[in-house]
Amino acid sequence: MGSAIKIKRVDFRTKAVLFVVFLAILFVLLHYLRWMHTAVQAQNPRKMSDKRPLEWWKTSVIYQVYPRSYMDSNADGIGDIKGVTSKLEHFEYIGVGAVWLSPYYKSPMKDFGYDVSDFRDVDPMFGTLQDFDELVNQAHKRGIKIIVDFVPNHSSDKHEWFQKSCRGEKPYDDYYIWRDGKRDKDGKPIPPNNWLSVFGGTAWRWHEGRKQFYYSAFLPEQPDLNFRNPEVVREMNDVVRFWMQHGADGMRVDALEQLFETEDLKDEPRSNLPGIPPFQHEYLKHSFTTKLPEIGDIVRGWRKVMDEFESKDGSSRFMVIETYEAPEDRNRFYGYGSNPFNMDLVDGLKAPLTGTHIRALVEQEYIKLPEQGWPTFVMGNHDRKRVSSKFGAEYVDALNMLLLTLRGTPCTYYGEEIGMQEIKVTFEQTQDPWGKNFGPDRYQEFSRDPWRSPMQWDSSKHAGFTKGSSPWLPVHPDYTMRNVKVQRESPQQTTLQLYAALAKLRQDPVFQRGELLFSVTDDNILSYVRQIPGSDVSRYFVVFNFGKTKSKNDYSGAPASSAKGVVIQATCSLIDRVKDKEVGLNDLELAPGDGMVIKLL
Ligand code: GLC
Repeated sequence: MGSAIKIKRVDFRTKAVLFVVFLAILFVLLHYLRWMHTAVQAQNPRKMSDKRPLEWWKTSVIYQVYPRSYMDSNADGIGDIKGVTSKLEHFEYIGVGAVWLSPYYKSPMKDFGYDVSDFRDVDPMFGTLQDFDELVNQAHKRGIKIIVDFVPNHSSDKHEWFQKSCRGEKPYDDYYIWRDGKRDKDGKPIPPNNWLSVFGGTAWRWHEGRKQFYYSAFLPEQPDLNFRNPEVVREMNDVVRFWMQHGADGMRVDALEQLFETEDLKDEPRSNLPGIPPFQHEYLKHSFTTKLPEIGDIVRGWRKVMDEFESKDGSSRFMVIETYEAPEDRNRFYGYGSNPFNMDLVDGLKAPLTGTHIRALVEQEYIKLPEQGWPTFVMGNHDRKRVSSKFGAEYVDALNMLLLTLRGTPCTYYGEEIGMQEIKVTFEQTQDPWGKNFGPDRYQEFSRDPWRSPMQWDSSKHAGFTKGSSPWLPVHPDYTMRNVKVQRESPQQTTLQLYAALAKLRQDPVFQRGELLFSVTDDNILSYVRQIPGSDVSRYFVVFNFGKTKSKNDYSGAPASSAKGVVIQATCSLIDRVKDKEVGLNDLELAPGDGMVIKLL
């Protein structure tokens, strides 16, 4: 009995010891796991394993609509808001989550709406404020966000503020940038300095009534607002509030670089670029008239207004900035509560394309991105040439595939989803003031008309864009074959169908938050893996031939680390041969213009 009791006591002590050892092991293990987790997070500062939902603008494809050219609902030859509303189904079909509308505000249309005469109203040409509200309403019902174009740098010369400013009426007398200027020997007024307008010629315009010059960075009909005046800052904050109250989910900020100029009016130094005449903007450097540090506080002010709305309903408001700066410069915008557009694929990318060059442009974005940053890649817009004209129609599918599979929000200019081509416009037909300014000899270098032609909807007259007698710009003659209807109904995969499929694929979290690891890259080839490390979701391999010759490579090593995969998407040049087929990664051949998305096995 006594020994039995002893045994029991030993047993109990052993158990207690074992329990303590177990606790110690558990403690060490938990610490180890925590340490591991921190190490992984440090390697992945963008927290790919983070399961919290991303803001809508990180998961959406953004689509730019130039309302003038999109869809005409009242047969006047000019697109309008009701026309845009009538195409909501198209946005759904192509899988865009947000639509950025170029200006539809009241305007004398000297710069096609970027000269605003009432920041709080819709131009009758585009419809009414009710039409805008209806568009927002209908879009929201379909889960589509609306991003408006905010034009803070200047108004139209027909804006009531400018009219009053010209008359010296308080408080508007100081709403714009007025200066006395100098006099020549005959007493004739001459501009206060050598500053040049973006569109060419002096940026100073003489006003006979006020007997002063006013400054305008663009057209004489677009006087620059004076953001050193707190009243102007307040007014423009109110404009932001107005459109947020009307349901806008975000805004693209126009011409922000030009918001401030130095006050001492020093002459800009010469750029010394070869072959640039003194009339042209590039003749000078623009350190006194662009990118001034004062811009930061103004952007922060707009963010504050947007946050008022965000905090009410919890839905994020997106502010994206028009800037053509290099990453190390544009990244400052994150600190102001906004996102810069990444235009490297617009201006940085030159023909002929090479895999190496595209990789360098994309890689610099990722390497230089600050912790709070999120890339917004752009491939084209209303100010820049179309993809097919810059690089060749044979690369359109591959470039759409690139844009939609990169890490970061893609932004597509209308028409690129069907590979629209540029129209030819004579000098007599030219509408764009920038083109007109340079006269018949040089207008083609500057006119933006060729890529603003009407959207091609179907094979009917004027591509289904208008029922009127003539659209504001000619429709591209290829419209009978290249249009939305034909491309949607085709039994063979088309550029449009591929675009829609890729936009859908982008809903996969791997394409939204996964990391991007570059693989084989050379003059022809660009390739990368998209994956979420430490998870068991599918991994994808994306490969393109942007070159001029066929290319066969072994991609099976790291980072793919796989011998085979199944092709889930491919450019139209290739799709019939490879769709849903298993392919080996060790000797994959691609012809110029080919691109594939492969699910790794
Ligand atoms: C921006 C617009 C451009 C316009 C200019 C002046 O750069 O994108 O179209 O002409 O601002 O408002």
